[in-house]
Amino acid sequence: MKPEQVRDWVRAARRIVVLSGAGMSAESGVPTFRDAQTGLWARFRPQELATEEGFRAQPQLVWDWYAERRAQIAQVAPNAGHRAIAAFQQRHPGRLAVVTQNVDGLHQRAGSPGVLALHGSIMEDRWLEPPRACCTAEDAVPGRPPRCAACGNLRRPAVVWFGELLPEQALAAAEQAAAACDLMLVVGTSGVVYPAAGLARATRGRVVIVNPQASDLDDAADAVLRGTAASLLPLLLAD
Ligand code: OAD
Repeated sequence: MKPEQVRDWVRAARRIVVLSGAGMSAESGVPTFRDAQTGLWARFRPQELATEEGFRAQPQLVWDWYAERRAQIAQVAPNAGHRAIAAFQQRHPGRLAVVTQNVDGLHQRAGSPGVLALHGSIMEDRWLEPPRACCTAEDAVPGRPPRCAACGNLRRPAVVWFGELLPEQALAAAEQAAAACDLMLVVGTSGVVYPAAGLARATRGRVVIVNPQASDLDDAADAVLRGTAASLLPLLLAD
């Protein structure tokens, strides 16, 4: 399939969903998770770094790992793909919804409104245990991680770890958007993590994959475009 054909689908679509994954930010310099060489899960152990159990076992190590990623992300910028999406949304208010698995906030920084961030945000943190009256973020004792001076409750990154539920409202809104759209652009995701990947299987709209490599969702696609987010999205979303 040629990109020009997909651009025609974009022009004809009344409601579009972009479902993005780590590949969306690769050209901004944020590593993906599953790339065999550069992926985070090729170099680090998700059991240790991306589960509540792992955090409880080694809170300082996990906190520091996220702090380092947070600092890296603060230094990169949205790429031409993020910008093309935000510009399209500006030209066509209400026509395109962004559903992302990314925690880097780059869609938001590019200016996309109402981003549904299914896996939370690495730029924020929250309490590990349900907060008591004594737990206020302002009073947390600086530390790695910071903790409540009174009860010892720990701050943790506000990302969704393996085995955890997705934020209920964002997921419900994403399911609704997926059900209502007539075109879904699935950009830069391996499609192996559910429920996010399930959105591409649930939609009755056309599904287009934008990914330089094969993904687990290719079988659900009406078109597969083998290219990168920053090179293809400006073309697909031009009008
Ligand atoms: P993965 O690392 O699993 O997949 C990244 C995908 O991006 C791969 O299919 C690559 O081929 C593709 N890719 C690489 N460069 C690209 C580019 N420039 N343009 C387009 N695509 C490109 O990342 P996700 O699918 O996002 O979970 O992983 C899903 C979840 O697993 C993540 O949200 C994270 C991880 O554990 C949480 O943080 C909860």
